[in-house]
Amino acid sequence: MLAARLVRTGRHNGAMVHIALHNSDAAAEHREGVLHVWNETFGRVGDASVWQDTVWDRHRARADFRLATAYDDDRLVGFSWGYTGQPGQYWSDFILDKLGPAVQEWVGGHFEFVELAVLPSVRGQGVGGRLHDLLLAGLPHKRALLGTDDDATSAAVRLYLSRGWRRLGKQSPTGQVMGKLLEDD
Ligand SMILES: CC(C)(COP(=O)(O)OP(=O)(O)OC[C@H]1O[C@@H](n2cnc3c(N)ncnc32)[C@H](O)[C@@H]1OP(=O)(O)O)[C@@H](O)C(=O)NCCC(=O)NCCS
Repeated sequence: MLAARLVRTGRHNGAMVHIALHNSDAAAEHREGVLHVWNETFGRVGDASVWQDTVWDRHRARADFRLATAYDDDRLVGFSWGYTGQPGQYWSDFILDKLGPAVQEWVGGHFEFVELAVLPSVRGQGVGGRLHDLLLAGLPHKRALLGTDDDATSAAVRLYLSRGWRRLGKQSPTGQVMGKLLEDD
């Protein structure tokens, strides 16, 4: 089981930034910090209880859910999460419908790399890269999938491209699906 395993540290503004991995149960206590970083990164959610029901709790209930956190002292400054994706889930079915053969052999039992966010004031110091690497560390899955902007110049896409992800196709006018083989990790 994953149990708030502390695996890496780095420096940020003189304080240690701790990167740790949590299973679904252990993730629960990080809810407030995650929601704060989410609000600062993706825009404030309209109703935190709706976010909790439709995103946080729903995703934590999925198989093999794991959360990577980055703490600067006691302040959560970044996070990443994912779980096992399967047909029947909304996004799996959505990309099967949109991309067809391009993702047919990727979907089902893949690791879904769902979220990655770092507070603006902490970016560019390696935190996002370390969250990414820890979230994928030691997974039994053979393949991973994510959806992101279709913009090769964005920080997120550059991060993914530099870590072995490749573009599988468009999922929307501005969005792409990326895949990564995990077997050699
Ligand atoms: C994407 C994000 C998580 C990166 O976090 P970060 O802590 O700044 O990332 P790192 O410092 O670890 O940098 C990792 C890599 O990202 C890329 N990157 C980071 N900042 C970048 C920038 N401003 N411009 C271009 N590439 C950048 C680089 O490839 C970098 O690798 P390098 O340092 O070896 O060159 C952060 O920018 C963020 O939260 N963005 C908004 C949310 C988002 O887009 N999430 C992804 C949704 S799918």
